[in-house]
Amino acid sequence: MDFADLSFPDAPSIHTTPPGPASREILEFQSTHESSAVSYPRGMPMALRRARGATIEDVDGNIYIDFFGGAGVMNVGHGHPAVIEAATEQIGLLTHTLDIPSPARVSMVEALLEVLPEELGKIFFGGPTGSDAVEAAMKLAKFNTGRYPMISFEGAYHGMTSGALSLCSGSPFKGDFLPLLPEVHFVPYSYCYRCPFGQKQESCDLECGKFLEHVVEDSHSGVGEPAAIIVEAIQGEGGSIVPDERFLPKIREICDTYGIVMIDDEIQAGFCRTGKMFACEHTGTIPDIMTLSKALGGVGFPISAVVCREQYNTWPPGKHIGTFRGNMVAYAGGAAAIRFMIESNLAEHALTLGDHMLDRLRELETGSEIVGEVRGKGLMLGVEFVHDRETKEPAPELAAQVRTLCHERGVLIEVGGHYFNVARFLPPLILTEELADRGVDIFMEAVTDLERDGR
Ligand SMILES: Cc1ncc(COP(=O)(O)O)c(C=O)c1O
Repeated sequence: MDFADLSFPDAPSIHTTPPGPASREILEFQSTHESSAVSYPRGMPMALRRARGATIEDVDGNIYIDFFGGAGVMNVGHGHPAVIEAATEQIGLLTHTLDIPSPARVSMVEALLEVLPEELGKIFFGGPTGSDAVEAAMKLAKFNTGRYPMISFEGAYHGMTSGALSLCSGSPFKGDFLPLLPEVHFVPYSYCYRCPFGQKQESCDLECGKFLEHVVEDSHSGVGEPAAIIVEAIQGEGGSIVPDERFLPKIREICDTYGIVMIDDEIQAGFCRTGKMFACEHTGTIPDIMTLSKALGGVGFPISAVVCREQYNTWPPGKHIGTFRGNMVAYAGGAAAIRFMIESNLAEHALTLGDHMLDRLRELETGSEIVGEVRGKGLMLGVEFVHDRETKEPAPELAAQVRTLCHERGVLIEVGGHYFNVARFLPPLILTEELADRGVDIFMEAVTDLERDGR
């Protein structure tokens, strides 16, 4: 299959600066009737009509290159034909069974078993969101160890339900809802651009890993014996942060030494996004429990899963339940998506294209005074904006302005990071080099224009 056929031709194509009149009408309707908590349309004001592959059309007929990918959901691209066909057939057959098995469920389990590390052979489907998978993983670790404390990382994002939110580090997310779960402790992630230990990557002795070990080992560190350490193999919302390659193996070693459950949250980094089926595979690190969602549902059908080693498969029936425990349409569509990922070698494509985009974007590291670092792996990329490359003072308003300029010129990007100063790229992985180059050109021009003219 030629990936170019999956997207609308000639993207981007902007007729009316967004939001155009039709979009404005719908946005007005939304702001009148929906909650003030609605957020994405504030950064990318538009209403959407349809989407194909790595392109999206708004209701005014503007066509965008999608570097946002539904926040990392659309790995096989919008409206992928094989996924739509499988899902459409399933809708006519059977849509809801809780956890009573069906052929669709079997096909999803079989597809997952083909791609999961063989150590993680037990699959659990809970509620439909990533947050629910995180809740379940945390409960499973507590159930198995009989312990309570959890260790998470600075910059971590694991979801919005109270348990998952407890594992998030960001005050803007959780600050208004404290206290959440007690005994959640945060230690530095391997964020080499802003190393809190003052190290440079060339000379670093993995101080963050050593500090984590110290916290676990020292009975007076203030951290009781943890049930689990939860980590994103590559940090997503934290700003597309690729850790030092020794970091994950070190966590594995610490978990083995101290009898701690290692949870790897692959909800955003999984399913070929970073150039491997799962991001932990870059360093050959196999966790005890892995959480999955987002791209698992093919083209956005809601589903999540927790997978674990056999030894942790101890839950009695009904220990973690929910009405929407597996969605037949998501199973059928998701299984078709996983098969496409395997057949098209999507991980390798993501890695090669990601390297190409990184090479091009890295010109900004030397050519621009407002770009501090360009980083990422596969098609999970980040460009961190600063006011001053020496002091690294974060520039969240510049990241937001670049997002607006890109939107107006036909490219959709995400903003995240510890300081909301990172432009994030999570395009559908079926992106072609041609579309990638066009999108990167527009992004780089936006950065240059912003730096020259301000906004
Ligand atoms: C790594 C990670 N974990 C968990 C979640 C939460 O998933 P959901 O938004 O489906 O609840 C997200 C969402 O962005 C995520 O990126």
